[in-house]
Amino acid sequence: MKIAVLPGDGIGTEIVAQAVRVMRALELKFELEEALVGGAAYEAHGHPLPEATLKLAQAADAVLFGAVGDWKYDKLERQFRPEQAILGLRRHLGLFANFRPAICYEQLTHASSLKPELVSGLDILIIRELTGDIYFGQPRGRRKAVDGHFPGADEAFDTMRYSRPEIERIARVAFEAARKRRNKVTSVDKANVLETFQFWKDVVTDVHKYYPDVALDHMYVDNAAMQLVKAPKSFDVIVTGNMFGDILSDEAAMLTGSIGMLPSASLDAVNKGLYEPSHGSAPDIAGKDLANPLATILSMAMMLRFSLNQPESADRVEAAVRHVLQQGLRTADIWSEGTRRVGTREMGDAVVAAITKTTTKS
Ligand code: IPM
Ligand code: MG
Repeated sequence: MKIAVLPGDGIGTEIVAQAVRVMRALELKFELEEALVGGAAYEAHGHPLPEATLKLAQAADAVLFGAVGDWKYDKLERQFRPEQAILGLRRHLGLFANFRPAICYEQLTHASSLKPELVSGLDILIIRELTGDIYFGQPRGRRKAVDGHFPGADEAFDTMRYSRPEIERIARVAFEAARKRRNKVTSVDKANVLETFQFWKDVVTDVHKYYPDVALDHMYVDNAAMQLVKAPKSFDVIVTGNMFGDILSDEAAMLTGSIGMLPSASLDAVNKGLYEPSHGSAPDIAGKDLANPLATILSMAMMLRFSLNQPESADRVEAAVRHVLQQGLRTADIWSEGTRRVGTREMGDAVVAAITKTTTKS
């Protein structure tokens, strides 16, 4: 098995380094190969997703990804910006199914901005369609308006679109995932306004006929945003399009008070995947040993489970993370009175130690 390791920018390199250490501590037979991506790749090769990096990702069984982006690249032409690397990987690898769990860890309940009783025990899963919608829809661009409110004025436009097979496959992923959880899917749309999302709703309803054991409800995206802060525990699996999923997954992540804890997986049709923390590259704290490596370590656990068929090792990693939280170790983002503040590296050390302990026990 070959794993492509793409640390990227900002805190990406520090957090991926810790995930790799934890991975090595598992003593599995994997080959790891590192490559540049994002701003780092742009600096070295003039492109955020160089051919060699893409080839490595395509040849690998799974990709462990850190984060990309830095404000200093905001002025670059769009095709050279770091974000294009992750969008390109999603598109070229066909990673249409994005799993973004929002779990509130018992020890971190008070870190949420919501009342503890609203989030205690929270465990929801956002399944975001990742290769379609307005993110990738053509045509897009700039032009002179020929109609609209200001004919002749400069305008910009994007295209929101979804085909039936695109919606069918993500709906199936959501229903299958719900079967392993609490059997409930909420499909989020904007069917009251958008043609694309009326179609989305119709197709999800069609696919549901094959999953009569799973409960399905439909919710408009504005209401879903509201319900997420009002009664987040009323959700189990949320399935939605690329853009709504982008927004709602950040909201859901923040409910847990610790975006530094949340992993994600982006899968293709045969469970090859890219695994990355839900948070970004945080250039403001890069290189300061402040970042929380746990989201990346937990993403690596998802990789073991979904793409590398090593569920026991995944369990061990997740148990090790719970163990270090139990020990009271906290990086700055999740620190609170009475717990012990540690840096990125020390957090990695603690997880490695917890893993090594279970190795010698078993
Ligand atoms: C995410 C990010 C990306 C997205 C950006 C960096 C292109 O916000 O993974 O949620 O919008 O999908
Ligand atoms: Mg986002």
